Amino acid sequence: MAQGLVTMSYISASILFILSLSGLSRQDTSRRGNYFGMLGMAIAIVATVFGGHVTAFGILAGALLIGGSIGAFAAARVEMTQMPELVALMHSLVGMAAVLVGYASFLDHNSTLVGVEKTIHELEIYIGVFIGAVTFSGSVIAFGKLCGKVTGKPVLLPARHWLNLALFVATFILGRQFLANAEAGDALTPLLIMTGIALVFGVHMVMAIGGADMPVVVSMLNSYSGWAAAATGFMLSNDLLIVTGALVGSSGAILSYIMCRAMNRHFLSVIAGGFGTAGGGEAAEIEGEVQPIEAEETAQLLRESKNIVIIPGYGMAVAQAQHTVNEITKLLVGQGKKVRFAIHPVAGRMPGHMNVLLAEAKVPYDIVLEMDEINDDFPEVDVSIVIGANDIVNPSALNDPNSPIAGMPVLECWKGGTTIVMKRSMASGYAGVGNPLFVLENTRMLFGDANDRLQALLKALQA
Ligand code: TAP
Repeated sequence: MAQGLVTMSYISASILFILSLSGLSRQDTSRRGNYFGMLGMAIAIVATVFGGHVTAFGILAGALLIGGSIGAFAAARVEMTQMPELVALMHSLVGMAAVLVGYASFLDHNSTLVGVEKTIHELEIYIGVFIGAVTFSGSVIAFGKLCGKVTGKPVLLPARHWLNLALFVATFILGRQFLANAEAGDALTPLLIMTGIALVFGVHMVMAIGGADMPVVVSMLNSYSGWAAAATGFMLSNDLLIVTGALVGSSGAILSYIMCRAMNRHFLSVIAGGFGTAGGGEAAEIEGEVQPIEAEETAQLLRESKNIVIIPGYGMAVAQAQHTVNEITKLLVGQGKKVRFAIHPVAGRMPGHMNVLLAEAKVPYDIVLEMDEINDDFPEVDVSIVIGANDIVNPSALNDPNSPIAGMPVLECWKGGTTIVMKRSMASGYAGVGNPLFVLENTRMLFGDANDRLQALLKALQA
């Protein structure tokens, strides 16, 4: 393929990636955004493979086939609720790729670079391996935390900030040794030691982050994986990889920033790791009497209401109750009631989780509102139905300064008429803290699997 054509293809792919990101920023254009992204990636792969640098087509075809099959198999089998774990694993692979490319570039003795160009290339290798190793080990720990194999609680070592500082200083000193020894051919030792330090840093950074703050970590690692890909692009002198990596890195950083603002956390403390310890002390004990309710009584309550808000959470995803929710919504709207959905920025287990489920069930976009758009309206709401949500409606985030989720904005449904909470038991949510909402005077607990209970509610409403 002529070089001009390769450059044209790279520019087209970059434009398609930008269109993809802009499409993904809104629900009604997100499908189109995905198609742009797929087309851009297809063009990028074809242009790279046939761009003149690849000679071992057989090995590449084999690798594409094996890697593509594993990816397709994993993506087809994964449950929607396990998506964040899959994403964390994918990030770890991007990090590992950056490390491997870094070592391959370093050990490549055919390089013709000399002088300043050689030093710059070595610097790219050093930084690329560092970012890649942090991304790899951090993402593996994030995967463990998300699937419950590693404790969800923050693990805080004494003097952890000093430890981080020491690791950074050691990385810097080793970097100088690496560059100084590169000529003499003895730079492998500092590179290896730095890789070990970066792996420890990634583990330490993510281990220190607590349950409810995990969403920020996921988007932050997404950003790191982008920068790792950009670093790989520099090492391979591939412009498209640099552009794509920078797009992922910066959009991930913007998402992390938005999430931090939504969760009332400081962006810089997230980047440095070791936050999520908001309250620090023991959360207050929850005392009070639970008032259970049945589907028939709930239906009666809804018949008497005009203004209804539905708050979906992780349990709705587990129960796959979104279609039944849509049926109930259609019925209530048909009876002239005002029904809206309130979406918390970290509801579920991945950014936009609830929006995706509701879109799948064909709930109209215009009645699905973000937390900031609806939180002030709760005093006028007659009934709020909380479906499998817990942390995102926990008043202790606002009232208990010792709570691990202290300071996190939540959906203030308790300010409305009655709150119906659908869940199977009194168990806590992802953050592992008790929820005083369940024992409030105006709360009723509708126990059971969300889809089961919603089916019963639908039947009772139709009766
Ligand atoms: P959670 O606080 O995790 O609560 C979900 C509740 O759903 C649980 O208390 C559970 O109670 C209930 N549940 C589970 N299966 C159910 C079923 N089949 N039927 C009915 N109820 C069911 O969820 P949330 O309120 O959506 O908050 C999200 C949490 O996840 C936050 O702490 C957030 O920080 C964290 N997180 C979010 C993300 C992103 S990016 N969104 C990523 C990682 C972590 P029972 O067992 O009693 O039924």
